[in-house]
Amino acid sequence: MVEGVVIPAGERSGATGSGGRRGPESTGQFGALGLHLADPHVEASVLGLLERVESELRASVASADPLVTEAARHLVEAGGKRFRPLLVALGAQFGDPSGAQVVPAAVVMELTHLATLYHDDVMDEAAVRRGAPSANSRWTNSVAILVGDYLFARAADIAADLGPEAVRLQARTFARLVHGQIAETVGPRDTDPVAHYLHVIAEKTGSLIATSARFGGMFGGASAEHIEALAGYGEIIGVAFQLSDDLLDIASESVQSGKTPGTDLREGVPTLPVLYALAGDDSDAASVRLREILATGPLVDDALHAEALGLLRESPALKRARETVRSYAEDARAQLAPLPDDPARRALESLCDYIADRTS
Ligand code: IPE
Ligand code: IPE
Ligand code: MG
Ligand code: MG
Repeated sequence: MVEGVVIPAGERSGATGSGGRRGPESTGQFGALGLHLADPHVEASVLGLLERVESELRASVASADPLVTEAARHLVEAGGKRFRPLLVALGAQFGDPSGAQVVPAAVVMELTHLATLYHDDVMDEAAVRRGAPSANSRWTNSVAILVGDYLFARAADIAADLGPEAVRLQARTFARLVHGQIAETVGPRDTDPVAHYLHVIAEKTGSLIATSARFGGMFGGASAEHIEALAGYGEIIGVAFQLSDDLLDIASESVQSGKTPGTDLREGVPTLPVLYALAGDDSDAASVRLREILATGPLVDDALHAEALGLLRESPALKRARETVRSYAEDARAQLAPLPDDPARRALESLCDYIADRTS
């Protein structure tokens, strides 16, 4: 159902329709993702594709084992923004979006994403995902890891029907993503921490979002030039998307993000505001105190964690990180220059605005 497409998990009312006709409320749901679809044909095409993605996603994770089916459906049904399928659907608008391979390509991207979420929540010891208990907390780490593996296998199986080029792209994208997760886990060695962080997020998040936009162009049959523009846009908006997600981890309440705020601080994953705070030389008492706390590493102590979160929320470092997000969002917009100035391109542009000022 399209309701799952556009409303962040924490904001969903639970009242879902049965698909089919779209009322004015669907525009409101697009508003939640900041997506602007001015043209009714593009809107109908994108909504129709995403609706088919929803039912195929659900069907694609069914297994002969009831536990695997239940645990795999758990996060599919919890919602999520479906940002990657959305990019496939929008990318396909630059060719023929009714091409038979567009929907399966979007399913491959969302399944790959979903699998990484199962694994990521084990690595990050996260208890909440998409406003629901994470698979590791609802079941066990072993179940979450194996169900993540199962989802990768399902993605590969569906990609096989799209041909060897799709299989290769999916595999290479996944390899890049894994390298990003490993680089994050190991941390910077001889590199500048900010450069390391930006490299990590391009690998772990930009990779899959770039391939989603590329798949849309490819399976819609867009021109080579347009496919490259879409992939370039996806890569940079993917970085902006992860940057804004990391800011939300500091600035949001759980009800907005569907996740537990402050997870990165607790796990000692330094994100941009933390790196800026550590590298800054602001001499006011709050900035000095913040640097002192952050220098101690992962903040497992509840009082220190709360103090750091409070100081970060008011810090010049957070403001500076917001400016960095805006600059990436503008770079992403610039990548769209080779594309025709039509409603699909404006929809992609509207996502840049959403990311620059994202609150959920
Ligand atoms: C979460 O991705 C992981 C990141 C790359 C930030 P999303 O924010 O797209 O998560 P869902 O799919 O909406 O749950
Ligand atoms: C998201 O990593 C990237 C992948 C899952 C590959 P994060 O750990 O930053 O994302 P959230 O905050 O848990 O969604
Ligand atoms: Mg995480
Ligand atoms: Mg992580």
